[in-house]
Amino acid sequence: MAKILVTGGTGYIGSHTVVELQKEGYEVVVIDNLSNSNIEVLNGIEKITGIRPAFENIDCVDYVSLDRTFEKHINIDAVIHFAASKAVGESVEKPLLYYRNNLVSLINLLQLMPIHKIKKLVFSSSCTVYGQPDVLPVTEEAPIKPALSPYGNTKQISEEIIRDTVHANPCFQGIILRYFNPIGAHASAEIGELPNGVPNNLLPFVTQTAMGLRDELKVFGDDYDTPDGSCIRDYIHVVDLAKAHVVSVKRMLDKKSGQQLETFNLGTGLGLSVLEIIRNFERVNNVKVPYKIVGRREGDIEKVWADPSRANNVLGWKAAETIDETLRSAWAWEKHLKEIKSS
Ligand code: UFG
Repeated sequence: MAKILVTGGTGYIGSHTVVELQKEGYEVVVIDNLSNSNIEVLNGIEKITGIRPAFENIDCVDYVSLDRTFEKHINIDAVIHFAASKAVGESVEKPLLYYRNNLVSLINLLQLMPIHKIKKLVFSSSCTVYGQPDVLPVTEEAPIKPALSPYGNTKQISEEIIRDTVHANPCFQGIILRYFNPIGAHASAEIGELPNGVPNNLLPFVTQTAMGLRDELKVFGDDYDTPDGSCIRDYIHVVDLAKAHVVSVKRMLDKKSGQQLETFNLGTGLGLSVLEIIRNFERVNNVKVPYKIVGRREGDIEKVWADPSRANNVLGWKAAETIDETLRSAWAWEKHLKEIKSS
C-alpha cells in the first residue's frame, strides 16, 4: 500500500486524517514540531486504529532535517501538508513568524519532494481566501479577495506558490483543499481539538464554557446583515474533512485526474449562525452555554458558506455527518479531556 507523509500529523485536522489514512490501509509517516500539539495524540491514533504511525519531531522550516526525514523514510508516494501556524490574531501581531512558518515550510517541501522523487501534494488551504464573497454559496471560481490577515495572506501566497511550481514541473501534481470551519472530534473521543490557552475558535470556546472552564462565551456581534444578526459559517465535521484528504490522495495515486492542479471547497453547503450553533449545542447535549453579545471582532467575515458541488461531483466526496452529531462529538471530546485531567 502507498506511503503518505503527513506534516502536522499530530494537529487537529492532521491527526484525524492519519486515522482515516490508516483505516484505508495507507502507511503513514507523521512529522510535527509539536509547537501546537501533543505527542500523546499518537496514543489516541494508536488506540483507534491499532497502528502507531512513524513519527519524526522536526520543523518543516528546517530544510536539512526535512531532507534527512525523506532520506530515512524512502518511497513516499504523496505528501499531505498541514503543518502551519493558524491563529489569525497572532498572525497580525507576529507577521514574520507566520510568513516564515507557513511559506518557508511549503517552499522546503516543494524543493525536496522532486529530489526524493515525490510528485503528489495535498495542501491545506482555507475559505479565508474568498474574504467576504459577493455571491453565496461560494464556488471555487469566486474571486480571491485581499487577505485580512497575514495568516490569510500566507494561504493565498501558498496557493500561488503551488500553482507556479506545478506549472514549472509538468510531472508534479497537486490538490488544494479550501476548508470551511472544521469542528467536532473522532467518534471514539480519543482525538480532538487541543487548543493552546484561551481558544480563538468558536467551538472550543463553547465546549469549555459548557464545562464551566470559562464563565461565558462572547458572541462577537448581533448586528450583522443575517437573520439573527450573528455571523454565519459552514461548520464541517473534522472526520468528514479528513476523509476528503484520503479521497484526494487516492485520486492522484490512481491517476484519476487528468489535471495537474485541482482546487476543492470542503464544506457542507449549510450556513449556521453563531447563535444557532449555541442553541443546537445546548439542545443536543442538554447543557447550558452562558453567553453575552459583545461588539464585533475585527476582521470577521459576515457570512460565508460553501458550494461543495465540485468536491461532491469530481472527488465523489460529501460531508456526511449531521450538525447534531458533530456537536455531540465536540462535547464528548471535552468530557474526555476532563476525565484525562482528573485521572
Ligand atoms: N465567535 C464568537 N465568539 C468566540 C469565537 C468565535 O462569537 O469566542 C464567532 C466569530 O465571530 C465567527 C464564528 O464564531 O463569527 C466563527 O469563528 P471562528 O474563530 O471559530 O472561525 P473563523 O470563521 O473566524 O475562522 C476560521 C479559522 C481560520 C480561517 C477562517 C476562514 O479559524 O483559520 O475560518 O474563514 F482562516
